[in-house]
Amino acid sequence: MSHQSLPGFREFFPDELAARTHLFEAWRRVAARYGFEEYDGPPLEPQELYTEKSGPEIVGQLYNFVDKGDREVALRPEMTPTLARMVASRANGLRKPIRWFSIAQMFRYERQQRGRLREHYQLNCDLIGEAGPLGDAEVIALLIDVVRELGLGADEVRVRVSDRRVLSALLLSAGVTEAQLPLAYATIDKQERMDRTALMAMLQGAGAGGISATVAGRVLDLSALHRLDDVAAVLAKVSGGSAALEPLRRTLGALEAMGLNDFVDVDLSIVRGLAYYTGTVFELFDAGRALRAIAGGGRYDELLGRLGGVELPAVGFAMGDVVIGELLKERGLRPALAPPIEVFIAGVTEDDLPHVLSLAHECRDAGLRTEYALTAQAVGKQLKLADARKARVAVLIGPDDRDRNEVQLKDLTAKAQRAVSRTEAVAELLAIRS
Ligand code: HAM
Repeated sequence: MSHQSLPGFREFFPDELAARTHLFEAWRRVAARYGFEEYDGPPLEPQELYTEKSGPEIVGQLYNFVDKGDREVALRPEMTPTLARMVASRANGLRKPIRWFSIAQMFRYERQQRGRLREHYQLNCDLIGEAGPLGDAEVIALLIDVVRELGLGADEVRVRVSDRRVLSALLLSAGVTEAQLPLAYATIDKQERMDRTALMAMLQGAGAGGISATVAGRVLDLSALHRLDDVAAVLAKVSGGSAALEPLRRTLGALEAMGLNDFVDVDLSIVRGLAYYTGTVFELFDAGRALRAIAGGGRYDELLGRLGGVELPAVGFAMGDVVIGELLKERGLRPALAPPIEVFIAGVTEDDLPHVLSLAHECRDAGLRTEYALTAQAVGKQLKLADARKARVAVLIGPDDRDRNEVQLKDLTAKAQRAVSRTEAVAELLAIRS
C-alpha cells in the first residue's frame, strides 16, 4: 500500500521550507515598513462566509464538507471575508485606517496546473477605513516593494491596474446595461485566454440578457485600452466620465511620486474574478507573462457593510507563494540553504564524552549551531561527519588537551588547527563566526 500526499498538496523538505521562510521573512519585513500589523483567523469557516460574497469562481473551488455537528464548513479559500468579519466585529475600538497583514495557508479545490495547487500560502495586506486614492497607492506600493525586496525589477514584474468605476462608466456609455455588467466583466476577465470570436459569443450568447453584436464589439475595444490618455479621451465625452477617472489618476500620480511608476501599467482588461471589488483592481504578473498571476487585489468598499453591518471602505491584495516561488527559482534568486551547523565537537576517546557534551551545551547556550557524534567513533569519522554537515569549525577534545586545560580548534575551510584555552573556547568560536 503506498501512502502518497493528496494531489495539489505540497510537502516541504528542508531546502523548500528554507525558500518559503526566506519569502515569508521578506513579506514580514516589507509589511512592517508600511506600519502593517500581523493577524490571523480560523482556517475552517462557515461555508456561507464565501457563498454569498466571493462570487462563483471561488464558490466552485471551495474545499467544503459537513462536519460532525452537521455544519456546512469550508477550508478558507481566501482571507478577505474573515478579515472583513474580524474588523467589523471590533470596528469601533480600532483606530483607522487599519493596516493589517497576515501570512496564512489557503485551500481551493482547483484543477491542478502550473502555478495553481489545492493549497497555497498567501500574504494578505489590507488597509481599512480609508476611501481616498492614497490608500490604493499605499497597498500597490507595498506590493511592488515586496517584489523589489525579493530582487525583482521593473523589467521582470509588472502591476496591471484598472478601476471598475472607470470600466463601468465606459461600458455603460457603450450601451451595456447595469444588469449586463457582470457578464461584461466575466468576459473581459477571460480576454487573455479566449479569442475574439469566443469572447463575442460569450457576450452575446447569454439568452435574454445577452449583449448585441455592436455593443459587444465596443466592450472588447474599450477593455483593450492601455493608456490613461486614451481612457481619458473616451471618458471626456461621457457624463460623469472624468470624475470616474479621478481616483485612478490620483493613485497613479502617487505611485509616480514614489518613483514606482516603472512597475505599473494601466490595463482595463484586469477586472478580477472576485465579486466584491468596487473600485481599483490590480494584478501582478511576470513581465514575460509566462506564469499565472503572482498577486491580485483591489478596493472593496461594501464588503464590511455586507458581512458585518459596518460601513468601512477597504483596499488590499494577496500574493501567493507558488508563482513568486517559481519566478525566484527561475531567476536564481532563491537563497542558498544555510549549513545546518557551525560547530562540530569531536572527542578523541570515550572518556572525553562528558567534556564534549559540556562544551557543546555551552556553545548552544551561546547561540552557536552545534552538533557532535551520537555514537562513539574514531576522530576521522567524526570529522567526516563535520564536513558533511558543512560545519565551519571542529573542536577536538582529547586527554592531552584536557590535561593542559585546552581544546583544538580546527578551521574546516582553511584546514588550520590551533590550541585555545578551554575557558576561552566559546568566545573564540563566537569570534570566528563574526
Ligand atoms: P486571488 O486573486 O484569488 O485574490 O488570489 C491572490 C493570489 O493568490 C493569486 O494571485 C495567486 O498568486 C494566489 N493563488 C490563488 N489561488 C491559488 C492556487 N490555487 N494556487 C496557488 N496560488 C494561488 C484573493 O484571494 C483576494 N482575497 C485578495 C485580496 C485581499 N483582495 C483584497 N484583499
